[in-house]
Parts: sequence; C-alpha cells; structure tokens
Amino acid sequence: MATDDICIEFDNVVAGYKDFMILNNLSFKVRKGSITLLLGPNGAGKSTVLKTLFGLLKPRQGRILLNGEDIAGATQKALLAKGIAFVPQGRNLFGQLTVYQNLELGGITLGMKTTHARIPEVLELFPRVRERMNSMASTLSGGEQKQLEVGRALLLRPKVLLIDEPSIGLSPLVVQDVFKLLQKLAAQGTTILMVEQNVKSALKMADDAIALESGQLVLHKKASELLADPNIERLFLGGGHVPGAAAPPASATGVIRA
Ligand SMILES: Nc1ncnc2c1ncn2[C@@H]1O[C@H](COP(=O)(O)OP(=O)(O)OP(=O)(O)O)[C@@H](O)[C@H]1O
Ligand SMILES: [Mg+2]
Repeated sequence: MATDDICIEFDNVVAGYKDFMILNNLSFKVRKGSITLLLGPNGAGKSTVLKTLFGLLKPRQGRILLNGEDIAGATQKALLAKGIAFVPQGRNLFGQLTVYQNLELGGITLGMKTTHARIPEVLELFPRVRERMNSMASTLSGGEQKQLEVGRALLLRPKVLLIDEPSIGLSPLVVQDVFKLLQKLAAQGTTILMVEQNVKSALKMADDAIALESGQLVLHKKASELLADPNIERLFLGGGHVPGAAAPPASATGVIRA
C-alpha cells in the first residue's frame, strides 16, 4: 500500500484498561475511502481499537497515524476537528430529548447555525426518523434509534467514520439500508472502519477485512477473498472462537499477515 493511500495506521499500539493490556503491539493500515471490517470473537479488542482511535483510551505505546500525522493521545475535540466521528456499540442517545435535540447536540462542535443548516440534509437520508423529529428519542424503534445515531455522526461530515456493530437489533432490510448508506459515503471518500458481527452481509459490502484475536492481528485481506474462503464458516460463523484454539493458521486461510 502506498503511503498516500493510507488513512489510518496503527503502529505497534499497546492499549488497555488499568493493568489489563488488551491491544498487544497491534499494527494495521486502513486505506483511504475504504470500508474496512474489524472482525473477531467477543472480547478480542475490536471496540477497544475504535475507542483508542477516538481518544477514549490513551495508548501506552505505539503510534496511531491519521493521514501520516500521529494522533495517539489527542483529545476527542481535536479528533472531531480532524474529521473523525464515532458511533459506539449499543444505545447512545439522550432518550428524554427529542430527535431534533439529539441532532443539535451532535453538532455542538459546529455551532448552531451550521448544525441547523445541516440537520435537514441528514434527515433526508432517514425519512422515518424525520417524521418523528419532535418525538422523544426513546420512543423511536431500535432501528430508528441507530439511524439517528448514524445521522448524528454524519452531521459532522466526517472524513473517517468509526462505527461499532451498527446492525445490532436491526431487521435485515434496515441493515441493508444502513450498509448501502455506508457504501455511498465511502464512494464519496469517507473512510469507514466498522465492527460487525453480521459477517457475511458485511463482507459483501466491505473492501477489506481485519481480524483480531486477543488484541492481535490474525488476518488482513480483501473482503471478497475472505468471503470466498471455505474456512469462513469455521472462523467467524456458527462456532465462532474455539476457546483455547490458536489463531487461525495463515496456511489454512491464505491470510496476508500485515
Ligand atoms: N472499561 C473497561 N475496563 C476493563 N476492561 C475492559 C473495559 N472495556 C473492555 N474491557 C475488556 O477488554 C477486552 C476487550 O473488550 P472489547 O470491548 O474491545 O471487545 P470486543 O472485541 O469489542 O468484544 P464484543 O464483540 O463482545 O463487543 C474484554 O476482555 C473486556 O472485558
Ligand atoms: Mg465490542
């Protein structure tokens, strides 16, 4: 990969919580304008990668490069200003505020004038959410709430979108809508790093796939190649991680170790 093509680079990153190191000398690269999937079993460190990238965790060692600039340890305010937006795992709305007020809060770093000008653009992407604009966010369906969260991140017109398990609780059709939207954003130049358990559907829409086990990279290859890999079921579907098993051998999957 040419340096110019790289948007995000983890270079030997060590990060964790108190005494527990979760990411162990993790290195990987994400291409500009790509959709890169972050895969791996529960507890592998996927959300920790996104949290570290978004400044919620300070790496103990290593570098995190955004377009070649080291952003490890930068504040969230600085990272938002650099165009990184984060949609965390789970529910992250202010349930007692209206849909519109949630969007206003999402634009707090933009100033109200810009935010109010952009809210209609975002709502246009999610017609059902727009209809409920004045309702309390907690009264939206689960899928509508996730759409609102994605919309709130898009208000920032991010250059990099970090999105953690967007499909949880969504029906297959809504998942497809969210995925189509992400593809459209990537086609417009947004770099997307996404954690997703809906592996097969996600691989169909992604460009690249990275897999972690115990905070270490075990696989980095093109999504289409992984989708065609006969071992995919064993690796990521059905059985998932086999406790005590070693990382999938490169020979079994033809993985490109980064
Ligand atoms: N705030 C925290 N304090 C201590 N340990 C944590 C904290 N958050 C996560 N961990 C631990 O770090 C490890 C990695 O967690 P992480 O949330 O990154 O996993 P994940 O790959 O996103 O898993 P999942 O698929 O279940 O969402 C887990 O063992 C988890 O228990
Ligand atoms: Mg997670």
